[in-house]
Amino acid sequence: MPAYAVIGGQWGDEGKGKIIDYLARKASIVARYSGGNNAGHTVINDQGKFAFHLVPCGIAWENVMNVIGNGVVVDPNILIDEITKIKKADLPGKILISNKSHIVMPYHIELDQLEERSRGNTSIGTTGRGIGPAYVDKVARSGIRMDELLYPLKLQEKLAEIIEIKNNIIQKIYNGNPVSLENTVNSIFRWNNFLSPYIDEVNHLFEKTLNEDKNIILEGAQGSLLDIDHGTYPYVTSSNPTIGGAITGLGIPPKKITRNIGIYKAYCTRVGSGAFPTEIKGKIGEKIRQQAGEFGTTTGRGRRIGWFDSVAAKFSSNINGFDSIVITRLDTLDSWKEIKICTKYELDGKIIENFPVDHEKLSQCKPIYETLEGWNSSTFGISEYSKLPLKAKNYLSFIEKKLNVPISLISTGPKREEIIAIKDPIP
Ligand code: GDP
Ligand code: IMO
Ligand code: MG
Repeated sequence: MPAYAVIGGQWGDEGKGKIIDYLARKASIVARYSGGNNAGHTVINDQGKFAFHLVPCGIAWENVMNVIGNGVVVDPNILIDEITKIKKADLPGKILISNKSHIVMPYHIELDQLEERSRGNTSIGTTGRGIGPAYVDKVARSGIRMDELLYPLKLQEKLAEIIEIKNNIIQKIYNGNPVSLENTVNSIFRWNNFLSPYIDEVNHLFEKTLNEDKNIILEGAQGSLLDIDHGTYPYVTSSNPTIGGAITGLGIPPKKITRNIGIYKAYCTRVGSGAFPTEIKGKIGEKIRQQAGEFGTTTGRGRRIGWFDSVAAKFSSNINGFDSIVITRLDTLDSWKEIKICTKYELDGKIIENFPVDHEKLSQCKPIYETLEGWNSSTFGISEYSKLPLKAKNYLSFIEKKLNVPISLISTGPKREEIIAIKDPIP
């Protein structure tokens, strides 16, 4: 019964893709509500291994409609590539793009990269995919929406003026290379040709589906601590991965959201700059990164590694109101002799238990850990809770108690079936 939000509880890459692919068997619609192709969602199932950047992770299921919502910013070139690959792989799900979603234009990508360069050593470490500048234009009311792609001649007229302004900024402020009007116009006709059949209204479909008591999964991208409002500003993304973004990014009434599911890795990772109190630096961090294969699905950048931070995790659980949480990558901890969990911070000689979102303060926080014994045996692929080693169970219940939210699923490997269902979040 009807809508289920699946939201990253940390700094992204928690394994949302795997969990959504698993849950989508019970859904009629999977709808992405925020971000763009800064996201990379890995799905591994019988049909293959996929990294989805824009298309929702219900695409491997027949009869599931995969909606790209109004809150998403869409790079049409990437979407066309993705749809082409999906067709080639014969994935049976259907795709619909909200006519209200905004387009990431070539000048957004150029500007994202130039802005990052000009920030020097205070750079955010963005994915360079044009996401921030596309959202800036949306809010400034000078963005281009998917519905405009349906009228390419009209859009062509508008584009000359926009590109002149953008090229002024690119060249005069950043000394960058101008974007070609001719190439962009050509792209628009190509995008129109390929994407038009997928662009439509989506809200009536949501309404109908909810009224028929069929399930909709609201697919989160990024993580709560990267939220533009609630995250570690300014080292954040430019949208709201948290629950509010799910509502505005799709147009689904909050009352219809029956359950809100938070996804957490059994440890922590972060890509790009910004405070990360439990980060494991140096050789040990590097060793774990290599062993765990923690490299970005979108950019290939090495992910920073850290211990599970229950102060940060509790904060994200509270702002979203998670009904249950999912712990992924438990197996990654299999060979760790001891496992630390941060339960408090020390700030200016005082012990604090509340996550300070103020980036200055967070940067000065020193983690205080509790150390648990590792289980030193393989949990890889286990699908029954009773088969987990006792020490792994202890670790999981420690997290559960700290967050005061029940664990619904435990992921023990990257494939769909490598999962323990304690209580399926979608009944
Ligand atoms: P997302 O952005 O939240 O969808 O996460 P990503 O796909 O960017 O990164 C998660 C990575 O962990 C991917 O490589 C997944 O295949 C992998 N993964 C997910 N769950 C598990 C798990 O339980 N165990 C292991 N070993 N890998 C996992
Ligand atoms: P998924 O959905 C991890 C990070 C970038 C950078 C910051 C801002 O796969 O979990 P942006 O390009 O959004 O302006 O970059 O946000 N970031 C992510 N980190 N997973 C993601 O998505 C991310 N999307 C953005 O690394 O620090
Ligand atoms: Mg990812």
